[in-house]
Amino acid sequence: MTRVFSGIQPTGDLHLGNLLGAVRNWVEMQHRSEGVFCIVDLHALTVATAPGEVGSRTLELAQVLMACGLDPEATTLFVQSHVHEHAELAWILQCNTSFGELNRMTQFKDKSARQRDFISAGLFTYPALQAADILLYDTEEVPVGEDQRQHIELTRDVAERFNARFGETFILPEAVIPPTAARVMDLQNPTDKMSKSAESDAGTILLGDDLAVTAKKLRRAVTDSDNEVRWDPAAKPGVSNLLGILGACTGDDPEALAERYDQYGPLKNDTAEAVVSLLEPIQQRLAELRADPGETSRALAAGADKARTVAVPVLRRATEHIGLLSGG
Ligand code: TYM
Repeated sequence: MTRVFSGIQPTGDLHLGNLLGAVRNWVEMQHRSEGVFCIVDLHALTVATAPGEVGSRTLELAQVLMACGLDPEATTLFVQSHVHEHAELAWILQCNTSFGELNRMTQFKDKSARQRDFISAGLFTYPALQAADILLYDTEEVPVGEDQRQHIELTRDVAERFNARFGETFILPEAVIPPTAARVMDLQNPTDKMSKSAESDAGTILLGDDLAVTAKKLRRAVTDSDNEVRWDPAAKPGVSNLLGILGACTGDDPEALAERYDQYGPLKNDTAEAVVSLLEPIQQRLAELRADPGETSRALAAGADKARTVAVPVLRRATEHIGLLSGG
């Protein structure tokens, strides 16, 4: 079976972009591939956090992922800091990544522009930790949204360089990006991606939002004034975003969906209805999971044990190929 790895940060609530661009595809892949899914709490430390915040968000995110349908029995679901090999391989890969490569990362440029007082070195070297996450599991496929494509390409470049320097060690992974909803846009500023760190939450659908609020946000989505429903992300970003969201919920092609509508109102109503039906059962399962946090913690501990069985020998392979002196 194909080995699949992906990760998500425990920062802010999960939003519709995370769900349609990534998590839903993980759930779909989990029974036909060997899935390894990681809550990347060390990545969340690259921006300032209050004591205790990352830990509680990690547990919450695990519950949300399970409510979305990720089955810890069928996959490996674990927390990055529970498997120390991630941080160790990250250091080794930092030493095989150039300053220039990291300096070209658009996510660093965007995120550092938003940090006013303190830009951590970790925010800059972040992609080397992401490369370690992926390469530690001999990963073949990485299901992610479009915004992660550049990081996966860097991972391939770093793996290739390491292999050339030290001999065949790492498998080169491929990004798997969904055909629709790979980049869900903000409902109020449809030229920006939907994000946990948007200035206002009017354009972001959060998984935990009251469903009446969710429907209202979609009905109030910014479109444009010509009232023509057409799939054209460049010229009509707001309308195309709604078509993409509706298509991702129903499994229809957004371009074909456009032909069914001649006004914005019905498109907005149908999109609101489709998103509410997607989120309703997730919210119900989440309420059940929240009643027993011990069950989630046990699932994460078992996940870390499973993850180590792969990560430990892969890290050993890398240190042996480098030729670090064996400690016995
Ligand atoms: P993160 O936590 O920002 O996002 C998790 C996943 O959600 C996708 N995503 C979106 N997809 C469509 N539309 C959007 N508006 C949208 N916003 C987010 C992301 O593409 C991602 O797949 N660096 C990663 C976490 C990470 C990782 C990894 C991913 C760490 N190690 C190894 C893959 C493999 C991140 O910050 O994702």
